[in-house]
Amino acid sequence: MFRRRLATLAAALAVAGPLPALAQAQYPSRPISMIVPFAAGGPTDTVARLTAEVMGRDLGQTIVIENVGGAGGTLGAARVALARPDGYTILMHHIGMGTTPALYRRLSYDAVNGFETVGLVTEVPMTITVKNGLAARNLSELVALMRSQKEGLNLANAGIGAASHLCGLLLQTAVQQQVTTVPYRGTGPAMTDLIGGTVDIMCDQTTNTTEQIRAGSIRALAVTTPTRLAALPDLPTAAEAGLPGFEVSVWHGIYTPRGTPAAINDRLSRALQVALRDERLVARFAELGTAPVSQDRATPAAHREFWQADITKWRPIIQAAGQYAD
Ligand code: MLT
Repeated sequence: MFRRRLATLAAALAVAGPLPALAQAQYPSRPISMIVPFAAGGPTDTVARLTAEVMGRDLGQTIVIENVGGAGGTLGAARVALARPDGYTILMHHIGMGTTPALYRRLSYDAVNGFETVGLVTEVPMTITVKNGLAARNLSELVALMRSQKEGLNLANAGIGAASHLCGLLLQTAVQQQVTTVPYRGTGPAMTDLIGGTVDIMCDQTTNTTEQIRAGSIRALAVTTPTRLAALPDLPTAAEAGLPGFEVSVWHGIYTPRGTPAAINDRLSRALQVALRDERLVARFAELGTAPVSQDRATPAAHREFWQADITKWRPIIQAAGQYAD
């Protein structure tokens, strides 16, 4: 109860009254901070930096990326939820905004009503990967190894609430075998240990794995989309590889604190739509196995509708898996 009162007080102090109309009209008049709730060098950071660079040009102000990792992305989300709703502290996050409300029973912020939406950015496929040298050359052999080794294998993720956590949860549910999980502040640092062989398995986004797979630094066993990726044409889908129905894509969106004026969210959405049409960004996303969402989805209303439906979608799946953060 104390935490909730603290969050309410913080939110009230952060609001300190509605933003004057003049400030809204002149927005943005100084650099913007985009919080990435995972460590630098990971997939969320990659999407954020590519998008923020082009948005900043349209806005005429620099968007500074600030990595606030930890607790599956909830520390970074809290930073934005409790910030002043003036458009100068924004959040780039992903599917974790859909799973956090079911995964966490106590948070310092309102995971459902603590944000305004700006727009969706991209939906990134995931790849099931293992360290080179693991005795599993395909997904069927990994499933057999997980069942034979019981808790003996370890799976890296970025904490409860991360996309890598969700994908790992779905894998363990599909295989009906728990493994030991090793949490990191992001899958950027986790990738270093997968390449180094100190962790065995990681389910992570193509924006972080594609180049490592091509370089032969890690071994990919499947992609979690209904069809194969042009960026990784030889990689079978999970369905082809023996796990039908195993599909998860990591949608990303931009948020502002609850109470941020609609005029500011709309201005940010217009800059986002410009970014998602940028030829260099589109080409780089394609190299990394993903693509921008269509322009009609990069709006506050479309994002909010999609996000709220995702919260409803994941709640029963997470409850059935029985894994929560206390
Ligand atoms: C990251 O950016 O580190 C990842 O998105 C973490 C995750 O969600 O797995």
